[in-house]
Amino acid sequence: MKKVILTGDRPTGKLHLGHYVGSLRRRVELQNAGDYEKMFVFMADVQALTDNADNPEKIRQNIIEVALDYLSAGLDPEKCIIFIQSHIPELAELTTYLMNLITVSRVERNPTVKTEIKMRNFEANIPLGFFCYPVSQAADITLFKADIVPAGEDQKPMLEITRELVRRFNSTYGEVLVEPDIMLPENETARRLPGTDGKEKMSKSLGNCIYLSDDADTVWQKVRSMFTDPNHLNVSDPGTVEGNAVFTYLDAFSKDEHFAKYLPEYQNLDEMKDHYRRGGLGDMKCKKLLNSILNEMLEPIRQRRHELQQDIPEIYNILRRGTEKARETAAKTMDEVRNAMKINYFEDKELINQQAEYFKNLQ
Ligand code: TRP
Repeated sequence: MKKVILTGDRPTGKLHLGHYVGSLRRRVELQNAGDYEKMFVFMADVQALTDNADNPEKIRQNIIEVALDYLSAGLDPEKCIIFIQSHIPELAELTTYLMNLITVSRVERNPTVKTEIKMRNFEANIPLGFFCYPVSQAADITLFKADIVPAGEDQKPMLEITRELVRRFNSTYGEVLVEPDIMLPENETARRLPGTDGKEKMSKSLGNCIYLSDDADTVWQKVRSMFTDPNHLNVSDPGTVEGNAVFTYLDAFSKDEHFAKYLPEYQNLDEMKDHYRRGGLGDMKCKKLLNSILNEMLEPIRQRRHELQQDIPEIYNILRRGTEKARETAAKTMDEVRNAMKINYFEDKELINQQAEYFKNLQ
């Protein structure tokens, strides 16, 4: 049977290379392979508000940025349904029912939620909406009966909770919801791209990002000042490639044909790494190669973004149409959910007739 694929992003900022290698590139490939029944990609603005309740303006401004990033990276509204979470009221409805099927202590054990509580200093006072977001995320996934969720390692605990909730729902009310599987990024570097400063993760709050929308000059500024091997002071010194962000990026982005094109003295990245380790290869040369590779990849994305930016109202139309389409699926699943839970009072003729009989007989 063909699969339903679904993923989402919190619209809290422009998308960067970490998003691209970690998920966006994969989504575009999946979309173009076409081997699915439906594909949904959505902006999780409701989830973004769970820790930005006092700053809806930030979310409001970033919906368009993320939409532009999606479309310029190659997501095609003819092939996948792009929608906005807050405009699917069925999500709130399903979340409410799922909340009855899970305990507070189960959510407390979710390691991603634990880390986020610490990071946001929520320890003493956790907003309830934030605390419940894993359940709301389970609704995101199950309302569309997704069986495949391409996402990063940090989303594993959310998928576990989702699967438990599906089993709980189906055994309590009947088989309606579908147990999803996570689809992790294919390799190690794609799972966690470090920042340009070599820190563990590329992240807006650390200010170490290269954005998909950065122009060529900005990319070069950022690449030129990238973290390498702090002990590699002279070109002739032997260097280390492990933990050297330039080489980690080359791992993530370079292909053999890039060497033929930009640096023909090496056949491939392995030869270049060997030279760096031996000594005699300078950081600048590595950075120039990386810059060429990144620009080759980003230039078509930039150009599409530039074109798309000329008609912003049309981008909102695309989002509105996607949201309308998503609501059709949402309404269908919610009907099934209400039927299974037997809270479909108005449609349940048998219930009405039985009770009519019962109350008539009382007299
Ligand atoms: N939690 C995800 C993130 O922070 C966003 C998200 C919300 C999501 N709902 C989802 C991802 C459903 C996959 C499926 O990036």
